[in-house]
This record gives sequence, structure tokens and C-alpha cells, in this order.
Amino acid sequence: MARLLARRAQLAAARGVSGLKRLLRHHALPPAPRRRCFGSGSKAEDRGQVTPLLKHLTFKIKSTGPITVAEYMREALTNPVEGYYMHHDMLGEKGDFITSPEISQIFGELIGIWYVSEWIATGKPKTLQLVELGPGRGTLTDDILRVFNQLGSLLSKCDISIHLVEVSPKLSEIQALTLTGENIQSELDIAAPVYMKGISKTGIPIFWYQQLQDVPQGTSFYLAHEFFDALPIHKFQRTEQGWREVLIDIDPKVPDQLRFVLAPSATPASEYFIQDQETRDHVEICPDAGIIIQRLTDRIQEDGGAALIADYGHNGNKTDTFRSFRNHKLHDVLIAPGTADLTADVDFSYLRTMTQGRVATLGPIKQQEFLKNMGIDVRLQVLLRNISDTAMREQLLQGYDMLMNPKKMGDRFNFFGLLPHQRLTHSDQKVSLQHSKSLSTPVAGFGELVWK
Ligand SMILES: C[S@@+](CC[C@H](N)C(=O)[O-])C[C@H]1O[C@@H](n2cnc3c(N)ncnc32)[C@H](O)[C@@H]1O
Repeated sequence: MARLLARRAQLAAARGVSGLKRLLRHHALPPAPRRRCFGSGSKAEDRGQVTPLLKHLTFKIKSTGPITVAEYMREALTNPVEGYYMHHDMLGEKGDFITSPEISQIFGELIGIWYVSEWIATGKPKTLQLVELGPGRGTLTDDILRVFNQLGSLLSKCDISIHLVEVSPKLSEIQALTLTGENIQSELDIAAPVYMKGISKTGIPIFWYQQLQDVPQGTSFYLAHEFFDALPIHKFQRTEQGWREVLIDIDPKVPDQLRFVLAPSATPASEYFIQDQETRDHVEICPDAGIIIQRLTDRIQEDGGAALIADYGHNGNKTDTFRSFRNHKLHDVLIAPGTADLTADVDFSYLRTMTQGRVATLGPIKQQEFLKNMGIDVRLQVLLRNISDTAMREQLLQGYDMLMNPKKMGDRFNFFGLLPHQRLTHSDQKVSLQHSKSLSTPVAGFGELVWK
């Protein structure tokens, strides 16, 4: 274990992430309420950066008119040629932000234990597909696989495989290096549903896909950490004339600069997505998240398994959360698209609605509560007992603080689970969604971990 910590410390130092002075994507929401409900907040010194993607978008807007925020976000993040996620590594100090799995190995280890605990609770099925959506550098799955390896005797009769849903060729290359220890990009066939294959350092097959639909059906356990916040959102503003969609147009006064405008009349999205009972004046909706949740629901209903979603977000009460990060600082969302991260808080109430009650939902509960239930304090003590190196002990403690402190990630990140109704059924009675919330449920993390 000390060797692992040393390796992680070396990697962290190499990536320039020691000392935990990295910025988190959830952090930098402006502290004071803003007068406008939405805005780019551009600073003079940021303007004038004409990226290839900005040229592409201004050409598009000139040809067909203002675009939705969702279209802007999709292009800026995943345009195959110039999208932010496609061709560089944005995690760590040299990048733009840092995430929990990169901060501490304990995070991934506890998630690994969650999957083993759910696998046991669902009757130890003979096959286990672990499916991660948006795996970043592959660190989380790597930590999970280490747990699976340590529990080898328990899992020895189980046929385990790893399925990674990743759009970025650059990040899939890094994931392959992390998980297999090799560069396997030569096997990349971007047009095939399985665009890359490899074998983990512990001998488990790994498959890469562009989209969830391509992952084979079967008992699967899904994981999405800081994935849903990267999906494109639509924005809507209440006006005296009714709901209007927020669009992005070229600023007529400043060439090569974008600005927000309101659609002059209702758009299909504003007609379709806003609920009659909506009380907010500004709303963000992520239909892509809804579609993915429906697909997860279909699969879990049909094949069993479970999904664990961890992200920053709210329960249908926040308004303007669209923001951008570059070099660990808040960045203007409309400046230099393709060179900065774009993100919006996940609306967990929307995710819950999209399951249509066909699976049980648990949470969202705060990260600090989830990790405490999973035994983070015991795990920290075990690691500390085995480590004498002062720097490594300090790194562990700082990582713990970052994950658990309510002012850091402890209260801002949430865990949300999807499970088949049978998993929570008592005496063969189906549990309704409302009831499932109040049950003293045996699902680890959302209650105490029973399996040790
Ligand atoms: C913010 S990063 C999170 C990385 C990792 N889960 C972590 O927590 O360190 C978002 C990840 O989702 C991937 N991603 C973004 N949009 C995607 C999409 N539409 N389909 C698949 N992957 C996507 C990115 O390439 C990246 O791996």
C-alpha cells in the first residue's frame, strides 16, 4: 500500500498536482447574486481570442441564425476536430481542474467496495460488467480494479469485464495507459462500436465505446463520476411573453464575439421541456442526461445491476449554473470556445423524473455522508497505520479533507443510485418510489456498509 501511495505521489508530482492546491470544477460559482439571470461576464483582457471553433461557430450562426446553448456546448466540448475534450488532458494542475479520484486513492477503493457489496446483494451473478461513463484518466476504474484484485477469492468465479464509454481519443489513450500499462492506440478503430480493446494489468478485458447503446446488454454495474455535468444543457428564461430559450448569437458591435440573446418566440425546446408547475425564472435542462438515464433504466429493469452517479448538482431548485474553467480559474463561457471546460450542475430531480419510477432511486446524498457510510474513516486509519513517511501521511490527510470537508467537496458533491425495485423489496412487495426513500435501506453508502 505504501508503494501505491508513493507511485500516486510521484504521478501527482509529475502531473504537478502535489500539495492539493488544485481547483475543483464545482468551486468557483460567483459568490454574490448577479443582477442578470444569465451572462457571459466577459473581461476585456479575455476578448479577442479567435479560436478555430469560434470561427466555425460564427460561420454557422451567420448561415443559419443563433444557436442553442446545448449546440454551443456540444460543439465546444466534443466537436471531433476542435472540441475541448477531444485532444488534450485537462485534469491536474497543468490542466484546468481536478476530480476526486485524482485526489485520493481512497475514493476509488470505496467505490470498488460499493460495487462488490451490490454484486453480493444481487446474488453474486456469474458475470459482472463494470461500465464507466466518461472515465477521464482511468484512475477511478484502476482503483476499483485493485479492490477487485484484492478480493480475488470472493470474485474468482465471476466473469468480470470493463466497458468504458468515452468520446475523447486523447483521454482513451491515457485510460489505456493507466489500466493496461501499454499504449494500445494502434488497435483503435474509431468507426467500430468497440473502438479499442485491451487487457488490464490484472488480466481483465477492457472495451471502449463512443456511446452507451454500444455496450452489450447483461448484468451491468454503471458508474458516472463528473460525467452528467459535461453534457449539453438548454437554458430558458421566463419573460412577460412566456418562456423563451436563451440562444447564442454574434455580437453586432464586436466582430468575432458571441453574446446571449433571447429567442423572439417560443422554440420547440421551450414548449416541450418547461413543466407547467415550474416556479423558477431561469431553468437549465439537459435532455441528453434524460436520454442516458432512460437507457440506464431500461437496462437495469431488464438485466438487473445498479448505477451510481456522483456529481455536483441540485434537486430542481438552482437556476444559472452554466460556467467555464480554464487554468483553474473561472472563465467566460463565450470566450475562446474549445480551449476551456464548460459545465452545469446536474439536476437530480430531473434524472429521477426521467426514470419514470421504473427503477428505484436513492439519494442524492452528500459525498461526506456517502463516504462515511462506506467506511472512509476506518480506511484512512488503516492506511495511516502502515505509512511512516511524513509527506505521504500529509498527502493522505489533505486528500481526506478535500473529499470530506463540507466547505470543499463534502457537501457539494452528491451520490445518486438507480437500482431494480426488487433490490429494495421487502416480503416480495414492490416498494414505491416515495417509500423507498424512507426505508432503512441496506444499500451501502446510502446506509451503513453491512458487508465487511
Ligand atoms: C469532467 S471529466 C470526468 C472524468 C472522470 N470521471 C473523473 O472524475 O476524473 C468528463 C469525462 O466525460 C467524457 N465525456 C464528455 N462528454 C461525453 C460524451 N458525450 N460521451 C462520452 N464521454 C464524454 C470526457 O471525455 C471525460 O472523460
